[in-house]
Amino acid sequence: MNKAKRTAVIAGNWKMNMTPSQTTAFMNELAPKIAGLNGCKVVLCVPFVDIAAAVEATKNTNIEIGAENVHMEAKGAYTGEISGEMLKECGVKYVIVGHSERRQYFGETDVTVNGRLKAGLANGLKVILCVGETLTEREQGVTFETVSRQTKVALGGVSADDMKNIIIAYEPVWAIGTGKTATADQADEVCGAIRGVLASLYGEATAEATTIQYGGSMNAKNAAELLAKEHIDGGLIGGASLKSDDFTVIVNAAQ
Ligand code: PGA
Repeated sequence: MNKAKRTAVIAGNWKMNMTPSQTTAFMNELAPKIAGLNGCKVVLCVPFVDIAAAVEATKNTNIEIGAENVHMEAKGAYTGEISGEMLKECGVKYVIVGHSERRQYFGETDVTVNGRLKAGLANGLKVILCVGETLTEREQGVTFETVSRQTKVALGGVSADDMKNIIIAYEPVWAIGTGKTATADQADEVCGAIRGVLASLYGEATAEATTIQYGGSMNAKNAAELLAKEHIDGGLIGGASLKSDDFTVIVNAAQ
């Protein structure tokens, strides 16, 4: 199996941006620009409070909606958290787990990421698992060890069959929101290494079928070069997903 047989997925990660009314306006602007572009799946992961507006505005379009996190428990005394069941009922199809900002600012660990990932799967959501090294880790030559550990721990207890519902996003922390993109070769090398980890866990066929995205300052200018690489099957896009024109260029690049 080769790259052409994997599903390309271009996903936006809005982080803490956009209100519900801004969400409606954005989706109404974006939908006609990318209508008919069916060469990749298009997902926008939005803040919890924007989900209802996003789902409503994207009915009958090729845009699917995702959330930016999910709690590991089904319900209970977890103030401020959101369960998979809640997301599902709101029409969410995807969820991001393990974003480096969650790890960096909110104390998430490989183990909590594993719990959240399994909660997403248990509720029938497709999970975008983020992994990536910090600048120090890259400089000290432990990039592969880092992404390999993050990938293995996050996928603990996940079966080969479940992998149909998992996307891995390789996001070098030093490239996120910094305007510093990994070169296409650097990104491809690590995405290839992650595919190797998947092969060791689940076998070649599963590894070859899994969508691996690159994320970290992917934009309208560099998307085509990154997406042309063998192991890069899509993108997780922060800043450039907030501008419908830029996001449209990236979706076009993935066709
Ligand atoms: P960025 O964010 O595109 O703004 O660098 C990517 C991400 O954090 O997912």
